[in-house]
Order: sequence, then structure tokens, then C-alpha cells
Amino acid sequence: MTTATTGTTSVKGSHGAPHTRVEGPEKVTGAARYAGDVPFAELAHGWLALSTVTRGRIRSVETGPVLAMPGVLAVLHHGNAPHVDTDYVGLLGVPDPTAAVFQNDRVPHRGWPVALVVAETSEQAREAAEALVVEYEEEPHDIAFSAGRPDAYASGGPQGQDVEEKGDLEAELAASAVVVDEEYTTPEEHHNPMEPHAATARWEGGRLEVVDSNQGSTWIVNELAKLFSLDPSSVRVRSEHVGGAFGSKGVRAHQVAAVMAATVLQRPVRVVLTRRQMFSLIGYRSPTTQRIRLGADADGRLRALEHDSLSLTSTVHEFVEASAGVARVMYDAPAHRTANRVVRLDVPTPTFMRAPGEAPGSFALESALDELAEKCGIDPIELRARNDPETGPVSGLPFSSRNLLACFSEGARRFGWADRDPRPGMRREGHRLIGTGTAAASFPARAIPSTAAVTAEADGTFTVRITASDVGTGARTALTLIAAEALDVATDQVRVRIGDSDFGQAMIAGGSMGTRSWGWAVTAAARDLREQLALGGSIPPEGITARSDTSAAIGALAATERHSFGAQFAEVSVDTATGEVRVQRMLGIFAAGRIVNPLTARGQFVGGMTWGISMALHEEAVRDQSSGGNVGADFAGYHVAANADVPHVEAGWVDDPDPDDPVGIKGIGEIGIVGAAAAIANAVWHATGVRHRSLPIRPDRVLLAGEGTQRV
Ligand code: MOS
Repeated sequence: MTTATTGTTSVKGSHGAPHTRVEGPEKVTGAARYAGDVPFAELAHGWLALSTVTRGRIRSVETGPVLAMPGVLAVLHHGNAPHVDTDYVGLLGVPDPTAAVFQNDRVPHRGWPVALVVAETSEQAREAAEALVVEYEEEPHDIAFSAGRPDAYASGGPQGQDVEEKGDLEAELAASAVVVDEEYTTPEEHHNPMEPHAATARWEGGRLEVVDSNQGSTWIVNELAKLFSLDPSSVRVRSEHVGGAFGSKGVRAHQVAAVMAATVLQRPVRVVLTRRQMFSLIGYRSPTTQRIRLGADADGRLRALEHDSLSLTSTVHEFVEASAGVARVMYDAPAHRTANRVVRLDVPTPTFMRAPGEAPGSFALESALDELAEKCGIDPIELRARNDPETGPVSGLPFSSRNLLACFSEGARRFGWADRDPRPGMRREGHRLIGTGTAAASFPARAIPSTAAVTAEADGTFTVRITASDVGTGARTALTLIAAEALDVATDQVRVRIGDSDFGQAMIAGGSMGTRSWGWAVTAAARDLREQLALGGSIPPEGITARSDTSAAIGALAATERHSFGAQFAEVSVDTATGEVRVQRMLGIFAAGRIVNPLTARGQFVGGMTWGISMALHEEAVRDQSSGGNVGADFAGYHVAANADVPHVEAGWVDDPDPDDPVGIKGIGEIGIVGAAAAIANAVWHATGVRHRSLPIRPDRVLLAGEGTQRV
């Protein structure tokens, strides 16, 4: 479903027609202000100084010489910074002191904030921060991540179970005609968004105000209120425009440091992170090593499925990249075991990064399925059809809808899968080998209670207020379409205001749950307002407002397996002389609920798939064992797929409205990356006959693996 893009339409009942971003003109003319652009009188600038050792204690912070430098106002560090509550409970119901800076002399990883230098200008602050001498008592560090770590332990993190099992795995494996037993690895990956993290904090009339770039302003309010022991009503956070987030824009060191400095100096203080600082301060995706064991009958029906994943976390906070979770949704077997394990090392705390768990987990699982298809001599799509479960493999719950096979049949038709010769290494064009591959995708479709207000204005227009965050996805536009439909008015009569915590509690832009959760609340308020307006009467100058709270409605949802699904297809060429893999074309077909705005939805899917190309072929953060930091912590050293790496990528969808959502939405933010890297790796196998079980599939790995095989 390649949708022609047209200009902004404003037609009543245009829901489902493509609509350009409502804030697009503001953004392309430069009128849109991002967090670091908003002007303030008397603004001071903070610059973070980061540790240059990987583990140890701060012995001294030599503030004297720096305080004498031009423009310097203060140096905050563990010896003088305001105290915060480090035992407070964060987003996931456990204490997370990752952003609780300057509370003690401990250095838990390289790049940990040890001081904030505040000055009249950003340049003065930076110069002083770079001149600041900090002495350390260095301790030996351990950052060596490997499958054999004896100190690894089982944990699913607060997001899920660590181990789930049923049946006798070893017995079923022994009884299997075909067995796949392989290890897959993915590297440390970073989700540096284009707009760096930036926050300005100030006290205004007894209230703490923060202008920020985040995924949810009430989230930041709740976290700052707990950290600084404030009443949440005395904190206001705004985040009007966000230049990308991908999981990284929650509470981070810069907001906390800005609030501390604004409190100490009693003037507005802005802290902006540099690209290089972001590599150690905003979280990242843990590397994984995953073992998959599949046992099947000769016809490909699974008897045993084991997915065991190891990731790392910091000594500060346990965050688990729960990669084995995807197997609990995708395939059933009489013996089924999934385990997430983690090891604590002297590294920064990892965090949510687009499709946390599912992105690396699907690389391993969907590669293994392809290996099983090869061993059984069964088409990879047919293998998935034979193992499509009736109910949740582990939960036993019914699926609210599971349209995975519809995605595969539509995708196969459009991609031209039927013409494929299943044998590897058969297509050669000059010095290049060509291959195609496929993989399945899934992502949970959840909703979180939110509040919204919709006002009928006296001039006949409507204003929606909700603490949503548009991190670049087009959420503001989707909410405009949703409100217009619920109100049955033209889109240009609806103004949607977001990104202000004073609008009330709402879900964050995360977990592919933003637009679904907000759309539900907006629809509920809009329907209520329509009923009020239907009673007649004139609209007073202040308008008529209806408010919603979806807690009860969402709480009443029956327990089901509710997910989006997708089928990824890739065609690659592999240069046998250089080892370079190029993706020639990609197609993703998704069953991801009702699509509100085809234009921005396509952007979400294609963006995720493009990231899959990046994950498969390019992204790899290298951590230096001796220094403990990332080598090349910038966009020169860490390559993400750029225009020249990205070929024709197409995304489409099958009809799949969620039956229990008032709009029919499921969520589309993350599923585009799921399975994408596996489809590419499977295509590389089809091109060359060589399996790549470690990402990224670099030229040197291709050349090394090619030696001795010489299949063609
Ligand atoms: Mo997303 S990784 O849930 O922000």
C-alpha cells in the first residue's frame, strides 16, 4: 500500500486519508522551538564534567581555579550538591538512581557525571568544565561481556518473567528429527536521536518549571518530584517539540543537574548534552548473546523451543534487555523454555531502545527458524504457518487477533516470493551474489490509562489538551485526526495541544502505546463533549470542556494476547570481492491495528525497517576494555544507515482493527524494526550459503566466513 502523499487535507470525515504533520510549517520554517532554543532572561549555562576513569572514588574536585575563570558561577559536585532521594521508585516500580548525580564519591562507569560547571555562557561553562581537575582513586574495572560469565543471573527485569518453561525440553530435543542449536550475538547499540537532550530549569512563583525534550512530561514531573521531594503539583514540565527519542528521553542527568543548579543559583539554568556525552548518559541497547535450541519433526512442526538470552547492565541499576520474550508470543512447542539473564558490569545503565527485547530477540529467533526451514527442506513461510499457535504459547490466552499469516501471504505476493529458488548461492550477477530472506515480527499492543480534555470554543473550533509527546512520529497529527473523527468536524477546526504536564497524567511516547493510549482518552472526552453539545445551548466565552480518564475502561480489558504482527522481506547483494552487503529492496507488511494516518504510519514502519538495515549491517559500539569507554563515541565512529545505505523500502498493511480499542489502534512505533535484521541475515545466507549469527554483518566477517566455503 504505497500511499501517494498529498498536501494537507481538511475534509470532514477524512480519517484514514494521508495528512501531513500539523506542525510541519512551523518545523520547516524554523519557527518551531526545541528545548535548547527557548530563550530565557538571566539564563545561565551548565556543562557536565564526566569521569575519565571507569571505576573508583573521587578523591578531590579542584574547584578553586575553575571558579576564578571568566563567567563561572558555580561548580556542583558530590561535596556540595543538593541531596536527592535515591530510593524513590521510578517508572518501572523499582528505584533507579541512574540520574541521581553528585550524591556520593563513587564512579560506577566511565562517563559518569562528576560535576556541573555553571557559567554565564555556554562557551565559558564548557571551557571551565574541560579545565576542571578531578582526582580519582582508581579501582580495577570489569566490562567483559561474554556468554560464559559465571556471575550472570536470571532476571526479566520489571518488564517480565525471567524464566518460563513447560514440558521436558531435553526429552523433546532427543525425540526430534531435526535440531538447531546455535548462538547468536548482537552488539552494544546506541539510539542517539538527532536532537541532543536539553533542559532548562527555573523556579517561578514557587513552582519548578522545566523546559525539556522528553517522551512524557508528566513522567518527568513524577520523577523530579520524587527525586527532589516535591509535591508533583509544584512541578511543571513542558516539551513542545522533540527531535527523536527512541527510548532515551526520560529522566537523565542533565535535567537533574539543571534543577540542582537552578535551585542553588536561583536563576534559570540550561544543560545541553553533546553527542559524545550522550554515549554514556542517555542509555543504550545492551549487547546480547542468545542461545536458541529448536527441535522439530521432519515436517517442521516444533517439539522443543528454547530461547536463552544474556544481556548486561550497570552496577547502578538493573535494566534487562529481555530478548527471550518474543518467543513467548511467536511459536508454540510441547517443550518451551525462555530465559532472560543479565550480568552487572562497570558500564553505563542500558535502557529502552526501539523494540527493547524484540529487536535483538527476533534476530536470533527468526534466524533460527530460517535455519530450521533449511534443515527440514521447507519454505520458511510454510514453516511459520505450520507453527502458528492457536493461543499464547506460554500464557494459553487467546489472541485478540493474530494476522501474521495474512502479512506473509500479502508480502509474498508483492515481493515475488513464489519465484524464489530455495537453494542458496544460486544467483550471481558479476562478482555479486543475490539472495532473498524473510522473517516474522511482533510487538505487544498495550494501552495505559491517560487523561484528556476537549473544549468546544465559542468560535466554533475545538481544543484538545493532553500531555502527549510527539517525538517525531506524527502523534500530534494523529490525535488531530482522531479528535476530528470523534467530534465529526473538519481537521482544521481542531487544535491539539500537547507536551505540557499541566494538562494532566498521560501515557508517555513509549512501548508503541502513545497514540493508542492518548487516542483512547481523546476519543472518550470528545464523545462526551458531543453529547453535552447535543443538549443544545450557547457556548460561553470560556468554552465547554469535557474531560476523560481511561483508567476504568482500560482496567476492564479482558486478558488476552494482544500484539501487532508483521512479515519482513529483504533482497541483498553480497560483493564477493569486498564482502560488502547491500540491501537492494525491502518490504514489510504489518497487521498493526487501524492505521490512523497512512502518511506518518508509513514513516514509522519504514523508519523501523531502515533501522533494521542499520542493525543488520552497520551499528556496533565498541567498548575499549582498558579505558572502559566507547571507541569513536560520535556519528563518525558509530555508523547508522545513511541515505546511500538505504534502498527501496516499502511498507504496507493488512486490515487489522483492534476489536477492543475505541479507535481500533494497536500501535506502530516499534514493530518496523522487529525481524528486519533477521530477514537481511537470512537473505545473506540465501545469497552466499553462509550463516551470519553475529551482528553487524561487516565486510570482514563476510570475507572471513567466505574463506573455505567457496560454494560458488
Ligand atoms: Mo520506546 S524504546 O518504548 O521509547
